[in-house]
Amino acid sequence: MNELQLGLIVGFCVGVIGGLGLAISIKFSIMCIRKHFGVTDTEKQDALETKTNSCTRSSYSANVGNNSPRTSGWSNLPEWLEGLKRKSISSACGIPKYTYKELQKATCNFTTIIGEGAFGRVYKAQMACGRLVAVKVLATNSKQGAMEFLTEVLLLGRLHHKNLVNLVGYSTEKGHMLVYVYMSNGSLASHLYNEKNDPLSWDLRVQIALDVARGLEYLHYGAFPPILHRDIKSSNILLDESMRARVSDFGLSRQETINSQSFKIKGTFGYLDPEYMSTRTFTKKSDVYSFGMLLFEIISGRNPQQGLMEYVELGAIDLEGNIGWGEIADSRLSGKFDPHELNNIASLAYKCVSPDSGKRPSMREVVLVLSQTQRPRNCSRQHWQNFSIKSEGSCFELDLSGTQEPPLTER
Ligand SMILES: Nc1ncnc2c1ncn2[C@@H]1O[C@H](COP(=O)(O)OP(=O)(O)OP(=O)(O)O)[C@@H](O)[C@H]1O
Ligand SMILES: [Mg+2]
Repeated sequence: MNELQLGLIVGFCVGVIGGLGLAISIKFSIMCIRKHFGVTDTEKQDALETKTNSCTRSSYSANVGNNSPRTSGWSNLPEWLEGLKRKSISSACGIPKYTYKELQKATCNFTTIIGEGAFGRVYKAQMACGRLVAVKVLATNSKQGAMEFLTEVLLLGRLHHKNLVNLVGYSTEKGHMLVYVYMSNGSLASHLYNEKNDPLSWDLRVQIALDVARGLEYLHYGAFPPILHRDIKSSNILLDESMRARVSDFGLSRQETINSQSFKIKGTFGYLDPEYMSTRTFTKKSDVYSFGMLLFEIISGRNPQQGLMEYVELGAIDLEGNIGWGEIADSRLSGKFDPHELNNIASLAYKCVSPDSGKRPSMREVVLVLSQTQRPRNCSRQHWQNFSIKSEGSCFELDLSGTQEPPLTER
C-alpha cells in the first residue's frame, strides 16, 4: 500500500465519521427543538383539522401556540395554562374556532358595538349562515383577561343549560374573542334602570329570578366539578327574545378595586359577600349572597351599588311592625304585584343575604322556593302553607299565610 492509497483511506474514514457526527447532531438538535416547543405529530394534525357543524366552520390554520400576536397576557400564565394554550384548548373543549377574518366580516369590521365591560367591547355579529351572535373582544392590555379567556373557553365548552349564555365559538387570532348566543333583549340592568324600556311586570320579574336561580343551581350542582360564578349582578343577566333570562360571564369575574389586603377581591361592589371579603374564601354561599342582592334589586328596582342594603335593612325594621316587604317594591310596578309572592321572595332574599353564610339557603333550596312561589300562576291557583325545606343540614321555613300545599321535600 503506497502513501497515496493510505491517504485516501484515512481521508475517506475521517469524512464518513465527520458526516455521521454531523447527521447525529442535526437529528439531536431537531429533537431538542421539538421537545422545547411541544410540537407532536398529533398536535400538528389537530392544528390542521377542520370542524364543521350546521352553522359554523372551524379553521385551524395555524398552530395555536403561534397565533395571537397582540396578546400580552399569555407570558404570565401558570404552567398548566401554558400547556392548555398549546394543546387542549385547540381540541378538547369542542367549541368552534373562528378566524379573525370571519369575525371581522360578521361584525362589519367591528363597528356594531352593543356594550362594553371590564373585559372589553361586545359587538353584535351575523355569521355567514345568518345566525346572530355577540362577539366579546378581550382588551389587549388585560393580563387577567387572557387568563379569564382560557377559563371561560374551557368552562363554557362543557356546559350547556337553557339558563346560561352558551359560548358558541372563540378566536385566538389577532387577540382573543368569545362568541356567544345573541340575547336580543339585552341585560336585566337595562330593563330595571333604562327609562326607554317598559317597566318589567311582577310576573316577569319572578320568572327572571327563577331562570337565574336555575342557571346558578346548574353551575353549583349540575356541573362537575361545580362552578362558582363569582360575579352575579343584573348586567350579567341577559334576556332573550321571549324575555327568558340567562346567566352570563362565569369565569370572567373581574378584580374589584377594593384591595385592602395584599391579594385582590373578585366581584362587584354591592353584590359581594361580606364573609368572603373578611375571609377571602369564596364559596357557593357567596354566590347565594350575590343572588339575594339580585333578588332585592329585582323587587325594589334599586341598584345594590347605591345603598340597596341599607334600604333593605330599613324594610326589615318595618317588618317587625308587620308592615311587610311591600314597602320596598319598585314604584315602577305601580302597586301591581301579589303581596304574598313579594313577601315570600323578599323573605327568601333576606335569608340569602344573611351575614352568616351557614344560615343562607343553597341554590337548590332557592329554586324550590321560587318555583313553588310561581307554581300557582301556571296551574290552577293552589294554596299552600308553612312549608319547610331540609338540606345541607339547614332548615328554612317560609310562612305563606292563607295558602295550602303539601310540605316540600328536596329533589
Ligand atoms: N350575548 C350577548 N347578547 C347580547 N348582548 C350582550 C351579550 N353579551 C353582552 N352583551 C351586552 O354587552 C354589555 C357589556 O357586557 P359585558 O359582559 O362586557 O360587561 P358588563 O357585564 O356590563 O360589565 P362587567 O365587565 O363589569 O361584567 C352587556 O350589558 C349587554 O348589554
Ligand atoms: Mg358581563
